[in-house]
Amino acid sequence: MADLHLVVDRAAGGLAGQIAREVREAVRSGRLVPGARLPATRDLARDLGLSRGVVVEAYEQLVAEGLLESRTGAGTRVAARVAAGAGRQPAPGRPGDEREGSWPHYGHRPTSPDLGLFPRQAWLAAVRHVLATLPNDALDYGDPGGVPALRRELAAYLGRVRAADVSPDDVVVVTGVAQGLSLVVQALVRDRGRRIVLAAEDPTSARQLPLFRRAGADVVPVPVDGEGIVVEGLPGDADAVVVTPAHQYPTGVVLSPARRAALVDWAARTGALVLEDDYDAELRFDRDPVGCLQGLAPDRVVLAGSVSKALAPGLRLGWIAAPPRVARAVRLARGELDLGSPVVDQYVLAHLIDGGGYDRHLRRMRREYRRRRDALVDALAEDLPWMTVRGISAGLHLYAEGTGDLSGLVEAARAAGLSAETVTSAHGSPGLVLGFARLPAHRVAEAVRVLAGKAGRDVRG
Ligand SMILES: Cc1ncc(COP(=O)(O)O)c(C=O)c1O
Repeated sequence: MADLHLVVDRAAGGLAGQIAREVREAVRSGRLVPGARLPATRDLARDLGLSRGVVVEAYEQLVAEGLLESRTGAGTRVAARVAAGAGRQPAPGRPGDEREGSWPHYGHRPTSPDLGLFPRQAWLAAVRHVLATLPNDALDYGDPGGVPALRRELAAYLGRVRAADVSPDDVVVVTGVAQGLSLVVQALVRDRGRRIVLAAEDPTSARQLPLFRRAGADVVPVPVDGEGIVVEGLPGDADAVVVTPAHQYPTGVVLSPARRAALVDWAARTGALVLEDDYDAELRFDRDPVGCLQGLAPDRVVLAGSVSKALAPGLRLGWIAAPPRVARAVRLARGELDLGSPVVDQYVLAHLIDGGGYDRHLRRMRREYRRRRDALVDALAEDLPWMTVRGISAGLHLYAEGTGDLSGLVEAARAAGLSAETVTSAHGSPGLVLGFARLPAHRVAEAVRVLAGKAGRDVRG
């Protein structure tokens, strides 16, 4: 007979439910194995000082769930086919809990921000404000292109911070750069009546490519050098090109003034659309970021951005600013896809931008991430001098080139607290992307020493 060691809190009520939960947990943890016989209801009730009916109710519930089996004369046993861990309900998560590690290809990207720096208090205050003031009707299905208040704030913000040239009507709220650009590709495919040719930087953010392909694009890689994408290398038949002009991902270079002009000319000449992935533009540390390309050619460029780097990727909140016909098509596509983004978060972001809280947070993030990046650059120069750091002082990742196979460094870097990925490119040297956002400046030097020790053994030797 199994001894159950049940703990029941009489004051909390729901006694049968408590017993059932305790027995479930005992089965799932393996304390009660299949076939184990449970105490008779009368005995357990007496032990617990409860009425027998409460225990009967709990057992009946578990029999109905298939966890227990009850046969006349044989008592109640744990069902033969129940395995430890079966049917486990997820425990409530705690902030910072990483149980989503079961999605191995997501999370811990080198471009993820330090989620410990998420402005919880400011966000909470904005949520409170929004819930206290929002009229009931605002909670209905909204414009699939986004709530007007946020589109207005974003148009003004992008004009002020990114020198964009956009009216609120041509801003579409999306779940991020990824969805925004996917919907643009889909709209182009629909317009052309065929798959499109999409030129993309090489190297690039490899995670974006499957999204573009799924949306209907055949991707053509175009080399990147120290001035950004090589415009002469663009295929003549491209319907669009996707670029990261403010801070090329992954190499970290800025598109030079000459290349910016050449790219805009190319788009005007060929009729192609430029998709400007502005993923981390607000995080420039040494000076103001270069204005976006969209401001130079609003009729040819779609600007896409999000709060993924400034606040948190998990918010899934972003925007595109597009030529009117593209904005219309994307809004329509979003309506047909899923009727738009959650409205409360949109009002919250609008309130945060309007009240200056978003700008304040960005100023803090720039100071903090600059410290972390500077510490990493110094430490690499000291301990891994054979790696060459490229790119500007910006963003959440740093790009370093080396020689040979750098894959051995990736695990070592991760173990040292830096998220890392190797970069493969048809052109150029092997590279390593090091995400420094999550490592406080005072821990960087030690982390790089660990990394360098490992590199000395595994990579060079
Ligand atoms: C270069 C680049 N573009 C776009 C994205 C996707 O961003 P979002 O979260 O806004 O969809 C990422 C995400 O890491 C990225 O690194």
